[in-house]
Amino acid sequence: MSSKLDLKMDKLPAHIAIIMDGNGRWAKKKGNIRIFGHQNGVEAVRDTVEGAAEIGLKYLTLYAFSTENWNRPRTEVDALMQLLVSSLEKEKKTLMDNGVRLLAIGDLLSLNNNVRNKLQKVIDETSGNTGLKLTLALSYSGRWEIIKAIKNIAVDIQQNKLDVKDICDKTFNDYLDTQGYPEPELLIRTSGEHRISNFLLWQLAYTELYFTETLWPDFRRGDLYDAIVNFQSRERRFGKISEQICE
Ligand code: FPP
Repeated sequence: MSSKLDLKMDKLPAHIAIIMDGNGRWAKKKGNIRIFGHQNGVEAVRDTVEGAAEIGLKYLTLYAFSTENWNRPRTEVDALMQLLVSSLEKEKKTLMDNGVRLLAIGDLLSLNNNVRNKLQKVIDETSGNTGLKLTLALSYSGRWEIIKAIKNIAVDIQQNKLDVKDICDKTFNDYLDTQGYPEPELLIRTSGEHRISNFLLWQLAYTELYFTETLWPDFRRGDLYDAIVNFQSRERRFGKISEQICE
């Protein structure tokens, strides 16, 4: 497993996004119920966030609950929401100790009041922190975000606040929940699944993808550093040819 010393600090990605997958399978392997996997997933979140803050990463975005996750059994959805509330309470100190600012993207209005209030409280309380920006994607999907952007663009055109000829990549970015974020340079998905699953569909256009067999509850900062070491060994061409890329 890689350590901090294996990283090229001048070549850190500015933004890493993670699809945290495999909680259910991890619990099943241990003969336990799915929520046990989610509970242990919180430890993986803590160590990953601390590890990211420790190396000075600027943005970390975690897919914590997708639009599609609402279709899971009611008991699991309730347990996940409860876990989110208790984790926000318990982990606030971790965020403060590490200078982490909490942010959230997604259809936050669909969360129940208790979850939304707790989330907003921690967002407010960490808003002065200047280190890692930790974004939780909650009730989020890439298609939902893109459709919302298109609707808002249409309204602004109708109200003469935007001209069709001014729509470009930059304009579109400004209508997304991730407005102002650098695009993720690295996407990590755990548990051996090789899918994007409706995560950051617009933003991932040029992102390097990294898949690991590790199930999320077993993921630790060393696994994050493994992914970064792997990323740093890649050549990013953005449609150019090798000879056009300078070090
Ligand atoms: C995917 O595993 C994981 C989730 C849908 C939830 C992620 C939640 C956590 C890591 C815990 C709480 C998070 C925070 C931010 C406090 P899965 O259930 O799809 O696993 P499976 O594919 O093995 O069934």
